[in-house]
Amino acid sequence: MSRVKNAVEKIKNNCDIIDFNLGCPVKKIVTQKAGSWLLNYPEKVSELIKEIKRNTEKPVTAKIRLGKDEKHLTYLKVVEAIEKAGADAIFIHGRTIEQGYSGDINYEAIAEINENVSIPVIGNGNIIDLESAKKMLQTKVDGLMIGRGALKNPFLFKQIFFYLRNKRWLDINKKDKINFLFDYMELCDKYNLKSNEYFFRAKQHAIYLTKELENSRKLRERIMKAKNVDELKTIIKS
Ligand SMILES: Cc1cc2nc3c(=O)[nH]c(=O)nc-3n(C[C@H](O)[C@H](O)[C@H](O)COP(=O)(O)O)c2cc1C
Repeated sequence: MSRVKNAVEKIKNNCDIIDFNLGCPVKKIVTQKAGSWLLNYPEKVSELIKEIKRNTEKPVTAKIRLGKDEKHLTYLKVVEAIEKAGADAIFIHGRTIEQGYSGDINYEAIAEINENVSIPVIGNGNIIDLESAKKMLQTKVDGLMIGRGALKNPFLFKQIFFYLRNKRWLDINKKDKINFLFDYMELCDKYNLKSNEYFFRAKQHAIYLTKELENSRKLRERIMKAKNVDELKTIIKS
């Protein structure tokens, strides 16, 4: 059994789509000739996507970056290979590998990709608020993918949807923010995360979400001093 077939077999019954990650810049991945290493080899990308498609009926997508660096922008060749191999959509993080996770998003390149393929293109990179969402939408992509922005503000998806439908920004009230924090911790418990594992993330969410609330400085100081999940729950309930 090929390694690809084996990998697809393992996951295909537990997911809705299979996304092939060609954007990962992490050294231990790239040195294995995987992740973003493949952006230099469109023919290899094509072979691998065909092999994934042969082994599943689920939609197969590919997540890419623009190329290794400004001098090696391989995205047009790569998206052509991805589409020809039969992929169902492309997620594009509009940066090069060299840029890592900072630096400007290349919206022109994203628009160019969108013009050059007929499968759906989903734009990704630095979507953190309405302004950045609008910038991405101006490229005419079919969808938005949000990473770190949602960690800071989990309501961002809802707020962007609301804006697109109603042309005004949705403010989130205190009750909804507090409810979110409790739902988050409940889900962590439901999926058997140990409370010391998710405590740090829950605390971060609590600090960020209380930032815009009136007179919240004292509350945040107490949140910062919380030593465990139970203390955190008591503080945000008060
Ligand atoms: C801590 C961290 C882990 C990530 N893990 C993955 C991953 O497993 N697969 C993937 O396709 N992208 C991964 N990414 C990249 C994000 O999907 C996204 O492309 C990148 O963060 C840029 O989008 P953003 O500015 O909205 O965060 C990761 C990013 C971060 C910061």
